[in-house]
Amino acid sequence: MSITPYGAMRSHGAGVLRAEDAGSEVQLAGWIATRRDHGGVVFLDLRDRSGVVQVVADPAVAAGLVEAAQRLRDEWVVRVVGTVRPRPEGMRNPKLPTGDVEVAASAIEVLSESRTPPFPVEDDVEVGEDLRLLHRYVDLRRPRMARNLALRSQALSVIRSVMERHGFLEVETPQLTRPTPEGARDFLVPSRIRPRESYALPQSPQLFKQLLMVGGVERYYQIARCFRDEDLRADRQPEFTQLDVELSFGDEEDVYALMEELYAELWSTCLGVELPTPFPRITYAEAMARFGSDKPDLRYGLELVDLSAVLAGTGVGVFSGALSEGGSVVALCVPVGAPLTRRELDGWVDWAKARGAGGLAWGVVEHSEDGADGAGGVTLRSPLAKFLTAEEIAGILAACGAALGDTILFAAGATDATRTLMGALRVALAAERGLVPDGEWRFLWVTEPPMFDAATDRAGRPTGGWVPNHHPFTAPGAPYVDGFESDPGSATSRAYDIVLNGVELASGSIRIHDAELQRRVFRFLGISDEDAEAKFGFLLRGLAHGVPPHGGIAPGIDRTIMLMAGEDSIREVIAFPKTQSGACPLTDAPAPYDEGALTELGLRLIPQPPRAT
Ligand code: AMO
Repeated sequence: MSITPYGAMRSHGAGVLRAEDAGSEVQLAGWIATRRDHGGVVFLDLRDRSGVVQVVADPAVAAGLVEAAQRLRDEWVVRVVGTVRPRPEGMRNPKLPTGDVEVAASAIEVLSESRTPPFPVEDDVEVGEDLRLLHRYVDLRRPRMARNLALRSQALSVIRSVMERHGFLEVETPQLTRPTPEGARDFLVPSRIRPRESYALPQSPQLFKQLLMVGGVERYYQIARCFRDEDLRADRQPEFTQLDVELSFGDEEDVYALMEELYAELWSTCLGVELPTPFPRITYAEAMARFGSDKPDLRYGLELVDLSAVLAGTGVGVFSGALSEGGSVVALCVPVGAPLTRRELDGWVDWAKARGAGGLAWGVVEHSEDGADGAGGVTLRSPLAKFLTAEEIAGILAACGAALGDTILFAAGATDATRTLMGALRVALAAERGLVPDGEWRFLWVTEPPMFDAATDRAGRPTGGWVPNHHPFTAPGAPYVDGFESDPGSATSRAYDIVLNGVELASGSIRIHDAELQRRVFRFLGISDEDAEAKFGFLLRGLAHGVPPHGGIAPGIDRTIMLMAGEDSIREVIAFPKTQSGACPLTDAPAPYDEGALTELGLRLIPQPPRAT
């Protein structure tokens, strides 16, 4: 016996019937999407995973059928036996793939009744997310959700085929493990049989995949579930999925080529889009200077303009103050052809202040009365203009490539902070002014990020220490291997990210495969040899037993599918996600501790003040 395509109860899927099926006897089963009672005749829309078809309960076909159909309610599960027939002329529905036909029922059997659905099972209904997640089983029937899950499944299948084609072995790594330092907090799992000890859920399989390389696996991949206790956002869940990849005896070029093939195949198979490869590469330093972001969105220009040289001798206090402290003056030229209004400009100044900046200066490019101030008969109308020389104005206009009607926004301050501020402004302005084109896929590699970032305390103040920019297993760039300790702020690493349309899709690096270098990095990060032994002894022992040079990457599956599906949140492409506050309305997780379980685990709760409601 071979498995039937639609299950033993059905001959066809509801959504597959077409004009050429007219005359066929079919058995369908699914959910009642709608019921329209036209007196003597009842029309039902029957929905299953494959789509929707119209079923007619017609008294001329079978006695008692209309009465049976009149009892049915939305979302009841029924089985229908009937005959496919063309819809009468004028009754066809060109919007529906099955719209040329209908099924004249000869029998309708109720398989399961349903309560009144909590919301209509349609795409265009605004439903609160909590309600959707509480009744996710109903929500998943909406065509959009069904499409997203099907896309995800198809994408996973493409991923597996590309990885298998290139000799990668799928290996599962533990979920109950030790903390892995990916920068977030760990979820801990107390051990019952080893009281006072706990496992941690993996933030990623990072150390296991490196040990698999020591173990001679050479090429590894896993569709890996990762757990991170961090603040949630539209593109972050506490539990998410990575395509985790590692390879031996290769370098950055192997990873780049593999990922470009993978993404090109995903886009071509699942979306019918041919991506140009190779993807452009830019260094982290260039990304920060041009876009003020390590994940630049290349779908629009609006690049940052550094005016530090043009304004080197300026008398404008905010600019000269920043420059004399080694900072920068950075501008954005908004090419909207029509100047931003005074109110809009004030709005952006407040926006910048809310982000901790001193403010923004602005200027609007206008016709020059006498043609004297700027090049090409334009000049700058700005509260600052009277403090700028004609050469400075001309220099600003030239550096910005400014044209009549453009608005230029300026910020001054410490270079990194000013670039980051203007990078965020670039993204916000592009969205607000409608500068982001639809349907473009701008992949890029961002390479050679810093090896370390300055550590900050909870209030964001620098502590004087350093933290890894990627993770502490990332190899320093060749020129910095010997001396990263003496100039940590300048050292770059052999890490890389894939960015798509302003979203970080994947991160990876070439790893340290030398135990002594790994110890030096730990020491530099303030991890003593004893601590390193306690936390990462297993890695250090592995690195002492014959290690191939290796590196890898981990694309986020949820973010990839989110962008492919055109969604704004990864929750739309995860079957059972958590809310922004980390809860699952469906199961009501997390739940209060069970006293008995706590006792068994040898744990006691610290009394907490009652939570404010
Ligand atoms: P990283 O921490 O950068 O690298 O994660 C890699 C990718 O995983 C996705 N991602 C997330 N997706 C949803 N919710 C989250 N909370 C979340 N956090 C991360 C992103 C990100 O680009 N072990 C390294 C990889 C390596 O070096 O090979 C790692 O985990 O798409």
